[in-house]
Amino acid sequence: MSDNQNMRRIYVFDTTLRDGEQSPGCTMNLRDKLLVAEHLEELRVDVIEGGFAIASSGDLESVKAIAGVVKNAAVASLCRALPKDIDCAWEAVRGARHPRIHTFIATSPIHMEYKLKMAPDEVFSQAVAMVAYARNLCGDVEFSLEDCSRSERPFIYRVVEGVIAAGARTVNIPDTVGYAVPEQFGQLITDIRANVPNIGLARLSVHCHDDLGLAVANSLAAVRAGADQVECTVNGIGERAGNTSLEEVVMTLHTRREFYQADTGIDTTKIYSTSRCVVNVTGSKVQANKAIVGENAFAHEAGIHQHGVMANPLTYEIMTPESIGLPRNKMVLGKHSGRHAFENRLQELGFRLEAARVTELFAKFKDLADRKKTVGDADIEALAHDVQTMVTEHVKLDRFNVTASNVVTPVSTIRLNRDGKLIEQVAASDGPINASFKAISQLLGVKVQLETFQLTAITGGADAQCEATVRVRDGARVYHGRGISTDVIEASILAYLQALNVLLEEDGAKPAK
Ligand code: KIV
Ligand code: ZN
Repeated sequence: MSDNQNMRRIYVFDTTLRDGEQSPGCTMNLRDKLLVAEHLEELRVDVIEGGFAIASSGDLESVKAIAGVVKNAAVASLCRALPKDIDCAWEAVRGARHPRIHTFIATSPIHMEYKLKMAPDEVFSQAVAMVAYARNLCGDVEFSLEDCSRSERPFIYRVVEGVIAAGARTVNIPDTVGYAVPEQFGQLITDIRANVPNIGLARLSVHCHDDLGLAVANSLAAVRAGADQVECTVNGIGERAGNTSLEEVVMTLHTRREFYQADTGIDTTKIYSTSRCVVNVTGSKVQANKAIVGENAFAHEAGIHQHGVMANPLTYEIMTPESIGLPRNKMVLGKHSGRHAFENRLQELGFRLEAARVTELFAKFKDLADRKKTVGDADIEALAHDVQTMVTEHVKLDRFNVTASNVVTPVSTIRLNRDGKLIEQVAASDGPINASFKAISQLLGVKVQLETFQLTAITGGADAQCEATVRVRDGARVYHGRGISTDVIEASILAYLQALNVLLEEDGAKPAK
C-alpha cells in the first residue's frame, strides 16, 4: 500500500479468468472460477475480468456468477466491438456492483488488412460507435486497441482520442503479440500522453504478452511513462507464453516504490495463497525458480547466504517471504500435528473449505501421515484438491488388474461400481495405462480424446505418492482429472475416472450399460 501522499496509485486489472483461462491447459470450471475470484477479491485487485461472455454459454454463465458474488472489485467481460457481443457482455456483468464492459478492435495494419479486412477509417468509426453503444448500457467502458504496439502512431492517437470522446473511461494499450521492448513501449505511452489532447479524461492501461519474456519489464516501463493500470494474470498464465505476471509486477512496484513513486492497492500477503489456488485449479505448475512464487524464490541453499540471512535477512533478501504470505519457519506436519496447524496450512495454500470438508481431509491427512514420516505441502495440495473438486462419483474404481511385460501386449481388467452396479471390461493396448483407459471408456460408452497425461512423484523418497493428471476432450468440452496413489497405474485410473465423472455429471449421468 502507498505510504507516501505523492505516490501514484496503479490499478491492477486481473485477467486470469479470461486471458489466463484462454491458455492451453488452463480451462477452469465454474466452481474453480468462483474460487479464484474469491482469492482475487481478498488480494484486492481493482478489476476482475471474468471472461469473454459471447465465447460460449458456459462463459456467459460464469461471468454472470462472478458478477453476482464479487463485492469490491469491478467485474469486466471482454467483447469485440460489435453490438451483439456488447449486449452479451452487458448481460453478463450487469448484476455486478461495479460492472465494466471491455470492448476491443485491432488497429495494426496487418490485423486490419488480413483479419478484419477493414480500412482504417472503418475501424475508427466502428471503435467510436461501439464505445458509444456500450456507454449507453454501462457507465464504465474500457476500450482496447488490439495489437497496438504494432500500430501506427497517428492512427493510435486518433483512435484513442475518438474513443475517449465517445465515453471510454479506460483506454488499454496491448502488446498483443509480445513484440515490444521496454524503452520502445515506455516511449509509446509517453507519446500517447503527449499527443492525445483529451487523455486526461481516461485511465491509460497496458496489457503485455510474454513472447520475448518482457511482459513485466514492458508493463513497468509503461508505469514509469505514466500508465495508470496494468493488466496481468496470477502466475503469468495466458495465451502462448502468457501475460504480465501479477505477483512480479506488484512486488516490483511494492519493493521499489520509491523508484517508481507508485504502488498498487494489493494486499501482498495474499499473493502466495492466490498463486497456489491458481496452480491447483488449473493444474498449471510454476517453475521452481519463478520469481516471487516459485518453490526456490526464498530458499537460500548456499552456506554463505544462509549465514548472512541468519545474521540479518537484508543481506540477501530484498523482500520477506512473509510479505507474500509465506511463513518463514514452516512447521513440519506429521502424524502428531493437530487440526489447527493443518487448517492453517490449508489456508496458506489457498484452500477454502467448509468445516465438514476439513474434517474429511484431516482424516485423510492422518491416514497419510501414518504411512509417511512427514507430509509435505505437495501431499496436502494433492489431497485437498480432490476434496475441493467435489466431483460427484457416478462411477468408482472397484478393482483393477493389469498384466504387462515387454514380451506380451499389456492387458487391463477394470471393474467399476456404477450407481451400485458392478461392471467389468478387459482391454489390451500398447501400455497398461492406455489399456486401462480403453477399458474404462468402453465400459462407460464414452469416446474422449486424451489430450495430456502427466505423472509426477509428489514428494521425493521411496514412500512418495504419485500424482497423475489428465486432460480429455469431448468435442468442444475439456475435462481435467487428478488422481493420487503410491501406485502409478492406480493414480492414472483415478485421474481418468475423475475427468469422466465430471463429463457424466454434465451429461446428467447416463445409466450403466
Ligand atoms: O492481447 C490482447 O490484445 C488482448 C486484448 C483483447 C485486451 O487480450
Ligand atoms: Zn491478451
